[in-house]
Amino acid sequence: MDRNIALELVRITETAALASANWMGRGDKNAADGAAVEGMRMCFERVDVRGEIVIGEGELDEAPMLYIGEKVGSGYGPLVDIAVDPIDGTNLIAKGLPNAIAVIAMTEKGKMLKAPDTYMDKIIVGPGARGVIDLEAPVRENLKKVAQAIDKPLSDLTLTILDRDRHSDIIKEARETGVRIKIFNEGDVAAGIATCFSDTGVDILLGSGGAPEGVITAAAVKTLGGDMQGRLHPMSPEEIQRCHQMGFDEESIKKVLTLEDLVCGQDIFFAATGITDGDLLKGVRFLSKRKVVTHSVVMRSSTGTIRFVEASHDLDRKELLKQLKL
Ligand code: FBP
Repeated sequence: MDRNIALELVRITETAALASANWMGRGDKNAADGAAVEGMRMCFERVDVRGEIVIGEGELDEAPMLYIGEKVGSGYGPLVDIAVDPIDGTNLIAKGLPNAIAVIAMTEKGKMLKAPDTYMDKIIVGPGARGVIDLEAPVRENLKKVAQAIDKPLSDLTLTILDRDRHSDIIKEARETGVRIKIFNEGDVAAGIATCFSDTGVDILLGSGGAPEGVITAAAVKTLGGDMQGRLHPMSPEEIQRCHQMGFDEESIKKVLTLEDLVCGQDIFFAATGITDGDLLKGVRFLSKRKVVTHSVVMRSSTGTIRFVEASHDLDRKELLKQLKL
């Protein structure tokens, strides 16, 4: 695929971040999400791909824009599958908390798992621990193996996990091993990716979060050389039904999905822009005279290039931003 697609993807996540950043701390997560979705959707028209949203805002009857199956792009260029999360961490932005990001992943057609909107059990590590994780093994075994692989005593290993009651057993077992635990409120895409950057200080993510977010995270983890496994975790008969509708039978619902099952192919693109300040990305900053600065990361699997992009935007000079009435 054309390498310039990477830059186009950053423009898309930047616009979603810019569109939603004004909603920081204003207590309205739906308004923030709506603004990010609209920003993202408008950008697609300028991108030379024949894309289909495989992970998006929901089914057509739930979402008017960026719905699953929606065709996006200029209509020229390669056939691609696209996963979007205009805001991962809608509550974070509504409450003015750190780590909300706008994110997108793109692969060649048919190379991304079409994940149902259920939970997914996840284990994610950086490149140093590739090949040693096993979602079906006890928590303490995974922690020991990861610590060994990256040459850290267990007491220096840092586990990151969503603050949810359903994770109490994992946290209890992890505490018994003596590892450090970094608990976060929302946004397991940013947290999962953080395991692949040693300077974030987190080594492993465990626990369940959204399955769509899992696939998006996998695109980045694969590009960064880390490792991940997932397993669908439907919580109700309706969610099981949703899995069936998306082609998962009883067996495949229970199957441990490898990184390759989640996302594969020769060319994977991933981009994210910080909305609120986070461990990996700074949030959107409003300077004087309608100048705004964004901080993004963009990567491509075929070359392994990872770029951090700090961009300064003039809200009064960009046509698209004017259309969004920013
Ligand atoms: P949204 O931004 O879509 O609300 O998702 C935030 C998030 O924290 C995800 O990152 C995570 O995968 C999921 O919600 C966890 O779900 P729950 O809040 O139900 O535990």
